Amino acid sequence: MVVDGAGAPARCGWQGGRHVPGDLLWFSWFSWQPKRLYVASAAPVAADGAAAAGVRLGAVSAYGGAMADRAEDARELAEWERSNGNLIEVARELAQRLVAPLGRRWSHVQAVAVRAEELRAAVHVRTDPAEWNDAAETLLVASAWLHDVGYASALVKSGLHAADGANYLRGQGVPARVVNLVAHHSGARYEAAERGMPDILADYPFEDDLLSDALATADLTTGPDGERFSYDERIDEVFVRYPADHPVHQFWRKARPVVGEAISRTEARLLAQPR
Ligand SMILES: [Fe+2]
Repeated sequence: MVVDGAGAPARCGWQGGRHVPGDLLWFSWFSWQPKRLYVASAAPVAADGAAAAGVRLGAVSAYGGAMADRAEDARELAEWERSNGNLIEVARELAQRLVAPLGRRWSHVQAVAVRAEELRAAVHVRTDPAEWNDAAETLLVASAWLHDVGYASALVKSGLHAADGANYLRGQGVPARVVNLVAHHSGARYEAAERGMPDILADYPFEDDLLSDALATADLTTGPDGERFSYDERIDEVFVRYPADHPVHQFWRKARPVVGEAISRTEARLLAQPR
């Protein structure tokens, strides 16, 4: 797979090949947008670089896999902060204004932000430049502050808080990476489908990566009053809080194992970091 299209106009197509010595076929549909590469791929899992590239680019989700460009994220963040100030501070102030009136939801959000601070190392890539890792940390913590703003009464439109929050944040000029993370946080695509709104997140690419994994971990290991929970305790608590016929209860039945993998990946990344 050639990934050389930075700044190029959108294009898409098919490509494939035969992997030797594994002698396995792989093929992909790809769509190259000006900053994002979307790939739906079928590829063998193999230890060597050629096939592994096919697998790495082949993350498939309901919204298509996405490979975020960490260099571009860092550039965009630096540019945004030059005009608007420190993103985490702006996010914290915005979240406080919108969510503090909701009481216990504000306790939850503050604790999620603390948890995100603890998870900073989980968005590091050892071989990446420091400024890319610093940007990823900032995007994670800012997203944690903002992930539940869609519950603010003034913002409720569709009733899907992830979409309502993302729509508002996009209008406020918040960096697109943060908006996309908020739109898809913690399995929102499953809730959208369960509520009969499968297209409501279509404007926001699901960037299925370190950042979305870490944000889900921060949110889903924090209880509704800010308690520290394990993932299983958190989802069990959701099942108790929402009756069996409620869409939230229903979507978590489907999302639990998939989102649980994001939490496991984050925990593994933390363990792999040098101490
Ligand atoms: Fe939350």
